Amino acid sequence: QPNGLALTPPMGWNSWNHFGCNIDERTIRAAADAMASSGMKDAGYQYVVIDDCWHGPRDAEGNITADAGRFPSGIKALADYIHSKGLKFGIYSDAGSKTCAGRPGSRGHEYQDARTYASWGVDYLKYDWCNTGTQDGESSYTLMSDALRATGRPIVFSQCDWGSNKDWLWAQNVGNLWRTTGDIYDGWESRAGRQNGMTNIVDMQAELAHYAGPGHWNDPDMLEIGNGGMSNEEYKSQFSLWAEMAAPLMAGNDLAHMSAETKVILTNREVIAVDQDALGVQGQRVFKDGDREVWSKPLKGGGRAVVLFNRGAQASRIAADWGMLGYPRGVAMRVRDLWQHKDLPRASGSFAAEVPSHGVVMVRIDN
Ligand code: DGJ
Repeated sequence: QPNGLALTPPMGWNSWNHFGCNIDERTIRAAADAMASSGMKDAGYQYVVIDDCWHGPRDAEGNITADAGRFPSGIKALADYIHSKGLKFGIYSDAGSKTCAGRPGSRGHEYQDARTYASWGVDYLKYDWCNTGTQDGESSYTLMSDALRATGRPIVFSQCDWGSNKDWLWAQNVGNLWRTTGDIYDGWESRAGRQNGMTNIVDMQAELAHYAGPGHWNDPDMLEIGNGGMSNEEYKSQFSLWAEMAAPLMAGNDLAHMSAETKVILTNREVIAVDQDALGVQGQRVFKDGDREVWSKPLKGGGRAVVLFNRGAQASRIAADWGMLGYPRGVAMRVRDLWQHKDLPRASGSFAAEVPSHGVVMVRIDN
């Protein structure tokens, strides 16, 4: 993206996965407070993003206003508050006539809304795709991207059209990130009525690795860690795989009331460093045999982040051999476990470990 932003995948928090439409300025401030005080900010989380349902009506001049009942102090004051914590502020709109929850969309008001956001101090816009009728995806997103750039304020642009416009084919110079799938469901895999469990999302995102790079990322939707639908082992898998896929790391839980376990997962700096690696290459699945998978992400300096992923119901031994990682067979490499935070013995030719059911072993392999 020519705006020069998001050279590594954006990190932050978004209100939708936990709160849905049930938001107000207290909720958002509490999330910002918690992000600053919990260690998340220090670990790299930055953007506090309000999703759908913050809007009131448009005024007589067509300017968008905030829901006065939920945001009585106004959005500018909220942005100022978030900035005062050393964090950045994100907001949400929709390319169509209405948002998914029926609030006013930006169609026909793109430049006007972009100017309003800039005047409020918005640093990030998530732009949804409901009620768009026959609108063209590429031109709708390009229009808002241009409008944001015309404000002169640096604003990360997050395209949220669920892969329906195949954004990866054209959006490299339009958006900083684009959703690749429908909404994530807080469960291991799909079930009746809930399409996109965590592992289903992984399978859809995996195919698109070569479209991602600095400034333009595939977005497999937000984190569910701490929302209760999966076990902590499964949440560790989500965090590891999202980092491996160079995905935006947008927490989606109630930060003000998270467990110690949730915090440990979300603030694992060694895993975050994989996500934020400066090379900006999305990792790929390099081996699959039934439930056993090996993923490899090339890192700056020639190392690899390797995830051994076990989808099965039983613990299983999984091996990454150097051929899968693109290393010469015999060479002895350093291995560091990113969840145990310790160096393992050097390995020659392959690295293998026992991987818990629905879990991962994640290591960094370096020369
Ligand atoms: C659909 C998006 O995919 C979700 O992430 C969320 O923004 C909702 N719309 C809000 O209505």
